[in-house]
Parts: sequence; structure tokens; C-alpha cells
Amino acid sequence: MTIDALFEAGSAPEAGALPTITIPRPDDWHVHLRDGAMLKAVLPYTAAQFARGIIMPNLVPPVVTVADALAYRDRILANRPQGSDFEPLMTCYLTDRTDPDEIERGFGERVWIAAKLYPAGATTNSSHGVTDLAGLSPVLERMEKIGMPVLVHGESTDPEVDIFDREEVFMENTLLPMLKRHEGLKVVVEHATTSGTVDIVRVHAPRVAATITPHHLVINRTSIFQGGLRPHLYCLPVAKRESHRQALRKAITSGESCFMIGTDSAPHMRSSKQAECCSAGVFGGVTALQTYVQVFDEEGALDRFEAFASLNGARFHGLAPNRGTVTLVKKPGVAVAAVPIGEEDIVVFRGGETLPWSIGGTGA
Ligand code: NCD
Ligand code: ZN
Repeated sequence: MTIDALFEAGSAPEAGALPTITIPRPDDWHVHLRDGAMLKAVLPYTAAQFARGIIMPNLVPPVVTVADALAYRDRILANRPQGSDFEPLMTCYLTDRTDPDEIERGFGERVWIAAKLYPAGATTNSSHGVTDLAGLSPVLERMEKIGMPVLVHGESTDPEVDIFDREEVFMENTLLPMLKRHEGLKVVVEHATTSGTVDIVRVHAPRVAATITPHHLVINRTSIFQGGLRPHLYCLPVAKRESHRQALRKAITSGESCFMIGTDSAPHMRSSKQAECCSAGVFGGVTALQTYVQVFDEEGALDRFEAFASLNGARFHGLAPNRGTVTLVKKPGVAVAAVPIGEEDIVVFRGGETLPWSIGGTGA
């Protein structure tokens, strides 16, 4: 890593000299690329920021077989912008009927890298998810045996549980018993949003890790109601109170290797967000690196950005870091406000705002 912090303490900055940071090309360990016209519209933004991405399988219908994953992978590859070498890392959507043999086959053939566990009804397109975790034991046992990670959407689906407590309740009632039952299982707690969750992850590292989104680092639950209801800030798990946001910022800048990028970039049409019943999901893929690097800068931890962005996730998944580099520059920039799709569009998280950091370019 090279940090060219050109502003030396006490000295006047040279004209035109801006702080920059150059890191190996990072990966996004949790991204929704969707399908069809939406895939075509959003993929270039993710491919511009990341070398690889773990592709969420919650399509309609979901990606449940090796054949589904291969076909989806081909559609992603066919939609890459010209010259892009973006590599989609596929996942399998676990259901009550998942066959351990199919899981092992897809992993053995390197079609998928992990499986996604959605408790049924927890979030967008999770209706085919798991209703009976005990029944999933044979699948988890097989994954434990072959070293295949499970990526967990960690929210209770009990409608009686307050929405702001659903992650905490899941961790206590479901995740901790699961970790105990499957002592060798590799687990990624997706989009961690609470201080309790990051503490659990720390205690169980290195076989447990967590992804942290850009939006959960810069908004809290009050942001969703700032001046009125802000549908484009609504996602699941919903943002929590400020103390949790602070805990997430401390976690990713701590240097601990169990925390990695996962944008949870989840595009929905503007009409589905600005609606009587707003879909859950924040489309953060366009401004992800600008947001992450800003947080590391604000926390005085730019020297730890490389590990979080480019090394920790690869190590967890047993992959080499990427070749090539990306350079971020502390130069104000404005990302597109929305990405058009036909007559409609998708609103970009922090799009249209002046952000302190910009993407400077990539290197060999
Ligand atoms: C995601 C989506 O839209 O697919 N929504 C979200 O609020 N994060 C699903 C998910 O990751 O929970
Ligand atoms: Zn997601």
C-alpha cells in the first residue's frame, strides 16, 4: 500500500497535491445485481469499483441449483461492460428442500463459493428461505465438512419482535446456537448493524466474519426520518441508533481481519421505493468506495483501509488478493443521482451529493 499523504504536518499543501491512497483492487463480498435490464444497468457500477463480487441469489425465482447458478453467472458475464474482467462469485439460496449433495457438487465444481441463508420472510425475495433451521442441519453439516461458508441474513422473523431488535434476537436465539452446533462451520454474518453483533463476530473469528455496508457507517435510524420519511434509506437490517453506527466504524477501522466490505447494494426501481409500501434495499454500489474511504479518513485509519477493502475477505474465502490497483483521491466529486432503466430509474445512495473522496483510477 502507498499512502501519499502529501499534506505534511504544518506545511502548506503544494498546489494541486491531494491526498491519495492506492490499494489492490477491492472485492464486494455481498452485492445484488438482479437480472435482465436491471442487471445490465447496475453491473457497470459495481464492475468499476470491484474486481470480484459475491452475487446474492435472491432472484425471482431464486438460484437454488448448480444449473441456475451457472446460467445466472453466464448472464452476468454477458452483461459486463467492454474490457471489464469483473468476476462474479456465485452463491446458492438455501431452502427447506436444499439437497446436501447438490451443495457439495456446486462447491466441488467451483460454481458457487458459498450458500446464503435467508430466514423465510426476513427480507426482499426471501419467501423461499428457510423456515426450519433444525431441518437444515444435514446441509450445514455437509458445508462444515467441505469448508463451504454460509452467509447469514441475521434477523429474527418473529413478527412480535421489534424491527430494531430483530438482529440482536437472531444472534442470541439462532446464530449462537448454530455456531455451537456446528463448531467448524465458516459463517459470514451479513451486513452487521449492531455493536453486539460485531462483538460476537470478534469472539468467534477467524471462522466467523462479517460484512459491513457503506450506508450503515454513515446513517443511523434517525436519518431515515430526517425531515420526513426517507424511503431510499430503508433497508434490512434497518439502520440502528447512533451508538451502533459508531461501533461499526470502530470495528472496520480496528485492523481486525474478521471485517470485510459487503455493500449490500440492493437496487429497486424508484417507483418501488417511493411507494405506499416501500421495498427494502439501498443502492450503494455506485458510491461504495468513496464512502468507505471517507469513513477510514474521518477515523484517522487510512493505513488500515487496504486490509478491510482488499485483503480480509479474500483471506477468509481462501482466495488471493486481486492484481491491479485502485487509487482514491481526496478530491470532491459527485456521483450520478440516479441510474436510468427505460422510462424509470434507480436512486443512488449519496448520488448527486458532493462527496469528499473520488475514484482516481485503476492501475496494472
Ligand atoms: C436486499 C434486497 O433488496 O435484495 N434488501 C435489503 O434491504 N438489504 C435483501 C437483503 O440483503 O436483505
Ligand atoms: Zn443483501
